[in-house]
Amino acid sequence: MAKGGIIAALDVGTTKVCSILASLTDNNRMQILGVGVAPSRGMSKGLVVNLDETRESIRESVRQAELVSGARMVSAYVGVTGKHVSSINNRGVVAISRGDRLVRSSDLERVLESARSVTIPGDRKVLHVIPRQYILDGHPGIKDPVGMHGFKLDVETHVVTAAMASVRNLVKCVDEAGLEVADLVLEPLAASEAVLDPDEKEAGVILCDIGGGTTDVAVFRGGSIWYTSVLPIGGYQVTRDIAIGLGIPFDTAEEIKKRYGNVAPSEMAGQDFGTDSLELKTDNGYVIASRDLSYIIKARIEETLRMILAGLPPAGEYGVIAPSGLVLIGGTANLPGIEAFAQEVSGLGARVGIPQDIYGLTEALYNPAYATGVGLLLWATKRQVAGYAESQAKKGNVFTRFFTEVGRLFGQG
Ligand SMILES: Nc1ncnc2c1ncn2[C@@H]1O[C@H](COP(=O)(O)OP(=O)(O)OP(=O)(O)O)[C@@H](O)[C@H]1O
Ligand SMILES: [Mg+2]
Repeated sequence: MAKGGIIAALDVGTTKVCSILASLTDNNRMQILGVGVAPSRGMSKGLVVNLDETRESIRESVRQAELVSGARMVSAYVGVTGKHVSSINNRGVVAISRGDRLVRSSDLERVLESARSVTIPGDRKVLHVIPRQYILDGHPGIKDPVGMHGFKLDVETHVVTAAMASVRNLVKCVDEAGLEVADLVLEPLAASEAVLDPDEKEAGVILCDIGGGTTDVAVFRGGSIWYTSVLPIGGYQVTRDIAIGLGIPFDTAEEIKKRYGNVAPSEMAGQDFGTDSLELKTDNGYVIASRDLSYIIKARIEETLRMILAGLPPAGEYGVIAPSGLVLIGGTANLPGIEAFAQEVSGLGARVGIPQDIYGLTEALYNPAYATGVGLLLWATKRQVAGYAESQAKKGNVFTRFFTEVGRLFGQG
């Protein structure tokens, strides 16, 4: 938890490790003090595959953030993702048997406890049990039933689970890097705090984090999380396609992707480079046709977008479940033309999600790649303001707490 008003976020991605330090002002506004970004080593598809390398990458990013801010990073809110994360929707029900039939917070705890009794394999643990809506005596759509009267309280929840071993490895790296884990948060949940409007979450929106090694998908409806999944593809595959397709080294492909890459839709193609294909020169002397580069990137991004949409339940109904369309984040969302291209492929509205409402040393953070890091801080701020962390801190160590507590702030809109 925050020490002396300082809060910190740690986003251990497949390509970068990002540490952000912030302070909470008296009016509970978050002021960014410093950002540290280090290349990520030892991670693959959102998972730790080399403990020593990941620990050193974390150390380096923390060192940078501390240097810039002049503050110490003691503990941090840490993002969790990877293909080992999965989710289901579940229900719980309890009777309100007291004479006054008044719903109390203890009833909320009971009904959420009953919703978490899902059968899950022994090597998996529940990360979050997020209330989507409460139903009191058959009346649905209730966000907070405390203080209402009724006989029977149902809850619909979104239950997120993760492979125990994967989370333990991440916690171990953070621990060995000298940081306390204030809490662990599913990354798209965190990012949603930074880039989604309450109206979009209410109507239905698909948040897509196209990072380096993973694409995290989360659908929000009725003000809370409704569906999550993680695809083991991202910008790495785009770069690999360029390297193989054009016969150039991976690093050169990465450089040329970031410098010249775009996914301008068909009718816009040529706006940047003229109708004829241009010759693009890399720093180490390769010459590439702009048309070929664009063609390769578009093919992979189109496939990624189609995989995102195909995975959403119920199949083919994504226009109905998400009228607010797609919000794209992650480093790959920097590709010029991606909003229009995503609209063309999905038939839905699409925009790039850039973190908003941040103050202080924020320049580097106005980028979709930092939605998760900023979101972790906002998530922490929300919690701290609610005074929730203090009460939880008394209940045991963070690892146990993470796996046992109810993610009750989510779902409140
Ligand atoms: N300007 C750009 N144009 C195209 N791609 C870019 C650009 N900037 C970054 N990327 C790509 O974004 C990817 C990294 O995104 P991000 O920083 O969100 O990933 P990460 O959080 O490290 O990984 P993950 O979330 O998948 O574990 C890389 O593949 C990188 O090539
Ligand atoms: Mg990421």
